[in-house]
Amino acid sequence: MEIRTTDTPLLEWTGDGLAIGLFEDAVELTGELASLDEKLAGSIKELITEEEFKGKQGSSAVTRVGTHSPVRKIILVGLGKPEALKLETLRKAAASAGRLGKKQKCKTLGISLPTWNNDPTQTAQAIAEGVQLALYQDNRFKSEPEDKGPQVEQIDLLGLGGQEAAITRAHQIASGVFLARQLVAAPANSVTPITMAETAQAIASEHGLQIEILEQEECEKLGMGAFLGVAKASDLPPKFIHLTYKPEGTPKRKVAIIGKGLTFDSGGLNIKGAGSGIETMKIDMGGSAATLGAAKAIGQLKPDVEVHFISAVTENMISGRAMHPGDILTASNGKTIEVNNTDAEGRLTLADALVFAEKLGVDAIVDLATLTGACVIALGDDIAGLFSPDDALAEQLEKASEASGEKIWRLPMEEKYFEGLKSGIADMKNTGPRPGGSITAALFLKQFVKDTAWAHLDIAGPVWADKENGYNGPGATGFGVRTLVNWVLSDS
Ligand code: BES
Ligand code: MN
Ligand code: ZN
Repeated sequence: MEIRTTDTPLLEWTGDGLAIGLFEDAVELTGELASLDEKLAGSIKELITEEEFKGKQGSSAVTRVGTHSPVRKIILVGLGKPEALKLETLRKAAASAGRLGKKQKCKTLGISLPTWNNDPTQTAQAIAEGVQLALYQDNRFKSEPEDKGPQVEQIDLLGLGGQEAAITRAHQIASGVFLARQLVAAPANSVTPITMAETAQAIASEHGLQIEILEQEECEKLGMGAFLGVAKASDLPPKFIHLTYKPEGTPKRKVAIIGKGLTFDSGGLNIKGAGSGIETMKIDMGGSAATLGAAKAIGQLKPDVEVHFISAVTENMISGRAMHPGDILTASNGKTIEVNNTDAEGRLTLADALVFAEKLGVDAIVDLATLTGACVIALGDDIAGLFSPDDALAEQLEKASEASGEKIWRLPMEEKYFEGLKSGIADMKNTGPRPGGSITAALFLKQFVKDTAWAHLDIAGPVWADKENGYNGPGATGFGVRTLVNWVLSDS
């Protein structure tokens, strides 16, 4: 699929489908649109009346126009109130235009949407992102592609001529999101710690990043007892991935991004029971997938920031070698952990990754993890939990998320709840009581960061979309990649 920008006027554009954005309660046609309607013998006006199209956000209407007209299908997309227009509105409108264009078998699709905030560059990028993310398909595990109909082959963004650089940026970012989606969607017999390390290697060689993969022995030398405790029952070797993007010259700042990388989470000996969603636990490397996706995008965008991408990758399995509930592990900072529940494994792997990241002397650390079911109960499927003791970093991430449209919501790090993690025998337990489960998880992680600005994103909900949802779903969303990219590229 090729995306081009053009200044061809609406009236002169020809192709299979033309998608036009209209604001709420402003669907009377004026100017260029009125002339187009005239040219199409009043079919746009007719469509608006017949479908009672009001321009509400999320609404759409489609009609066939005459055989001899310059376009075959007209697609109207509602934009909501003009004063509420956001980049995310455009991303979603473009997604809807793309999905409808495909359904209407349009090989060529024109998209005409208003410019946000007098900023054609951001507008073009958002539209290109929305349409690409929505038209993404994954046929890797089908013996034959299900959808054999015509695909959208070419998209023209009308009124945005000259914005080629924005389209390139959208492609680079989307390539990172697609990688994350593919990694999350692939089952655990396809994506393993070994293949995750190979994927990191491939990113490094394709985009010129440095790479270091620590094998089990090296992790032992570094004292990563928490990570290795989780890895013990797996027949597959654990892999500690450390990718580094270094800009030329002295970087403006140095940051680390860490992703939870459980290629499968059975729960361990505290095995997940029936109805626990164990069969979906291939998604438990969603943080790691977002980290690698961000690495792929950042390797192409080349910002003036040094970025370390880190993931302690393994599976949480059962075997005669499995850690027992009640075992005491020692993490690489010397802290001891009583494992009162082997299913709270993500925080154990992250503990050693956080200690490793802090030793790099970075200015800030952000981790992403499908950490707790409790966070899904609190915020639902669309919103990630944000936890940070650092207000400035939390605000930076909130800004980055506002721009990406990936929703996050800050939850408190209530110190008093750490009491729930007190152990009679070790420095702490890995699991607290059920209430506030995502908060105690974050408080646990905090024990492994001394004095670097740090934030944790619990992405257990939004890593996956059961149904079609804007430009996401059904399936893996690639959540986090675009927010991370925005955060790294921001001036902070
Ligand atoms: N990987 C799960 C969390 C999860 C749940 C991710 C649902 C995606 C969807 C995590 O390792 C886990 O098992 N957490 C437990 C923690 C509990 C044992 C304290 C949970 O949330 O139940
Ligand atoms: Mn678990
Ligand atoms: Zn897990």
